[in-house]
Amino acid sequence: MVKKAELHVHLEGTATPALVKKLAEKNGADLDPTTFKSDGEFSWTTFWEFLDCYDKAAAAIRSKDDYRLVTYDYLARCAREDVIYVEMFSSPDHAAEAGMSYSDHLEGIAAGIDDAYRDFGIVGRIIVTCVRHLGPEKALRVATAFVNNPHPFVVGFGMGGDETQFHPKDFTAAFNLAQRAGYQTTNHAGEFGGPESIRASLDHLPITRIGHGVRAIEDGELLEEIADRRIPLELCPGSNVSTGLYGDRKLHPFGKIMEAGCVVTLSSDDPPFFATSVGYEYEQAAINYDLGTKALEDITRNAVHAAFCDDDLKERLLASI
Ligand code: HPA
Ligand code: ZN
Repeated sequence: MVKKAELHVHLEGTATPALVKKLAEKNGADLDPTTFKSDGEFSWTTFWEFLDCYDKAAAAIRSKDDYRLVTYDYLARCAREDVIYVEMFSSPDHAAEAGMSYSDHLEGIAAGIDDAYRDFGIVGRIIVTCVRHLGPEKALRVATAFVNNPHPFVVGFGMGGDETQFHPKDFTAAFNLAQRAGYQTTNHAGEFGGPESIRASLDHLPITRIGHGVRAIEDGELLEEIADRRIPLELCPGSNVSTGLYGDRKLHPFGKIMEAGCVVTLSSDDPPFFATSVGYEYEQAAINYDLGTKALEDITRNAVHAAFCDDDLKERLLASI
């Protein structure tokens, strides 16, 4: 089986409805009844409803051990699909909303990464993220906690959330803090914002990768620049189809972006919300963009080269592909 690597997945967004319900029950937490549909799956239709549903599900994750379990459960599923490396977005704002400290949330995730490595040999690393629609002040607070709490598994800084709110330049201070502390950074851009959102992120933030970036396809000059500068794109076709950006996987520009010479990677984003997994993304990419084993392995190599982890680990991962 093809070895796989994932660079774009939101940790709270990996918890299945079953795990969310189990944690809520254990914690005696009342879940918002609108979190689930009658068939038990997460209930949302638009992207903005998705973000809201994500928050409601994340509220069930309340302790260090809950974060350990969510992390371990996800990495165990990935290991079964021959995933060798996962960079996970953690969100201290979601942890704080559920009553947890920055360090408890981090230590819980790190314990899950340790346990999964011990049991399956899969390597996990953490990108600490702020939430764009919560605004620049909260983002700066997350970035400050991030630089003040270094951990060997924490390899970068990022931002998710609603990119139609605020402007990238509002977050320059937070991103610069992370970059000056020696970290690489990535930002969600060109998902629900157009190519101008990607342009603004490149102009105002010290990012070395782009979260999604798929809508660069709408601006030929920008696409060419992204290809020339070898800026890796964290593409998530299943997520984009689920949230309604493209009608189906065939209409998704993944293949065109690849042909334009961009450095592409494949990720699941929020797997149970989008009925996907890393393995399913690779399988569907093979079918819809006509990719053979070599092309799929090259996508994994792209991801390892673009990862924010150290070079020794990259060498080890590359040798295992
Ligand atoms: N996009 C933007 N923000 C997010 C996502 C996403 O898919 N998941 C969690 N936060
Ligand atoms: Zn995302």
